[in-house]
Amino acid sequence: MLAQPLPGDISTAAVIGAGLMGRRIAGVLARGGADVVLTDANPDILAEAVGVATEMAALGQTPGTVTSALTIAEAVAGVDYVTEAVIEDLAVKQELIAEVSALNEHAIIATNTSVLPVSQIAINATAPDRVVGTHWWNPPDLIPIVEVVRGEHTSEPTMQRTLALLEHLGKLAVRVDRDVPGFVGNRLQHALWREAIALVADGVCDAETVDLVCRNTIGLRLAKMGPIETADYVGLDLTRAIHQAVLPSLNTDATANAILTELIERGDLGAKSGQGFTSWPPGRREQAASELAAHVKNQLIPNSK
Ligand SMILES: NC(=O)c1ccc[n+]([C@@H]2O[C@H](COP(=O)([O-])OP(=O)(O)OC[C@H]3O[C@@H](n4cnc5c(N)ncnc54)[C@H](O)[C@@H]3O)[C@@H](O)[C@H]2O)c1
Repeated sequence: MLAQPLPGDISTAAVIGAGLMGRRIAGVLARGGADVVLTDANPDILAEAVGVATEMAALGQTPGTVTSALTIAEAVAGVDYVTEAVIEDLAVKQELIAEVSALNEHAIIATNTSVLPVSQIAINATAPDRVVGTHWWNPPDLIPIVEVVRGEHTSEPTMQRTLALLEHLGKLAVRVDRDVPGFVGNRLQHALWREAIALVADGVCDAETVDLVCRNTIGLRLAKMGPIETADYVGLDLTRAIHQAVLPSLNTDATANAILTELIERGDLGAKSGQGFTSWPPGRREQAASELAAHVKNQLIPNSK
């Protein structure tokens, strides 16, 4: 146990769900000095995750410990901070948050949902004022931003303590003051994907061309200058004129594009099945993952804040 709590008055944490995200979030917490208990419904995943989080923690100057627990009750007993990173299923998360809030009457309870409303996830919590959204991006130790989302009942002290902890962990923690689906990042991202997929579905150009144009135009600029600053930079009069000309023809579908269902029903799921909009021969997925991680790392040095 630490003599001095970390910012946010937090010394101990539990991470529920030790998959892709949970194990690395646990690693970041322990690297920053918190004593972390990991748990997962699958004991094999849990054992592997403890190894990953322990290796990450060892990189810290005064790291905390990483241990595992086989039950949620054991994991959350007495800790100051709990984060869940279980599957993206509203009912599962609702049940889990209700259980955790009843088992631990003082901890902040964070949900790592990507798009589900935090207020809905907290609906059965005994103390929804302690429930907060913390949307980490993958890989959580590399991508700087964590979106800290205020649910309908999240208290200001819960927001402040969560922001203080995440900043201590080296994250760029940003406030999202309204609980809208997809928060900030995923709304922006999926507005772009909706249009990208519609361009292909409508036969405007092929899939390769969409990505080539995106990567070699806005993709080159976005890590340096965001859309709001760019609007100011090019001029709001020009921005208005462009919007008046182009917005009426942009895709506004409120449901997923039918081309996705057609591909999925054919068994074309993308990299995991070998074919999506484009072909994924063996090895392409692994190569894409390592090239992407290297590219992100290179961009972080000058642009981290
Ligand atoms: N993968 C991403 O890129 C990404 C990015 C940001 C946020 N998220 C969000 O993070 C969360 C986790 O995603 P992931 O990609 O790590 O998923 P994952 O499938 O890799 O891991 C989920 C883990 O939760 C465990 N689990 C499921 N139900 C459980 C329960 N009731 N109790 C204990 N353990 C349980 C599973 O055994 C699994 O190991 C999701 O809400 C997801 O939307 C994912």
